[in-house]
Amino acid sequence: MSDMETLKQQCLQCENCGLAETRTNVVFGVGNPESPLVFVGEGPGEQEDLQGEPFVGPAGQLLDIMLEIIGLDRSKAYICNIVKCRPPKNRDPYPEEREACKLWLDRQLEILSPRIIVCLGRIAAISLIDPEFRITRQHGQWFSRNGIEYTAIYHPAALLRDAGKRPETFVDLKEIRRKLDAIASDK
Ligand code: URA
Repeated sequence: MSDMETLKQQCLQCENCGLAETRTNVVFGVGNPESPLVFVGEGPGEQEDLQGEPFVGPAGQLLDIMLEIIGLDRSKAYICNIVKCRPPKNRDPYPEEREACKLWLDRQLEILSPRIIVCLGRIAAISLIDPEFRITRQHGQWFSRNGIEYTAIYHPAALLRDAGKRPETFVDLKEIRRKLDAIASDK
């Protein structure tokens, strides 16, 4: 069994926070573990909880289109969330839930060893980039840490609610593509 599969089997048993009591499924992550690019969302919604896969609901359909814009699909990136279990009624995960779940994401990222991490929305950005991160002002900016390039873009659910944010996200996505090409060419 691969390290990632072993980790997944452990994560599926997790009872480190109260979300374990209300979940249907743990939503661990999907995609290509060899990819240099990882997308990190907030936490599972209703469909994700039912199916055990990240981004399979309406926001996920838009995420697929966003991947397509940069010439990718789910087989060419890895996709996971800050918290692996659905917060009831899709509320924001509490800080203590994010903290309790952090060991899984930390270990996932250790195994993946990505070059680029794209935070989808504010919750991922405050967890991974800066607790004071302001998504409206700082989306599309790059932060270099330990050989990894971090950026954050609007969450696809926010783009569904407010199509006015899409042009800015298009620019951010193109920049992610450019960064990915630059990384591929300096290998
Ligand atoms: N929103 C997220 O942040 N993650 C998912 O997996 C689905 C919706």
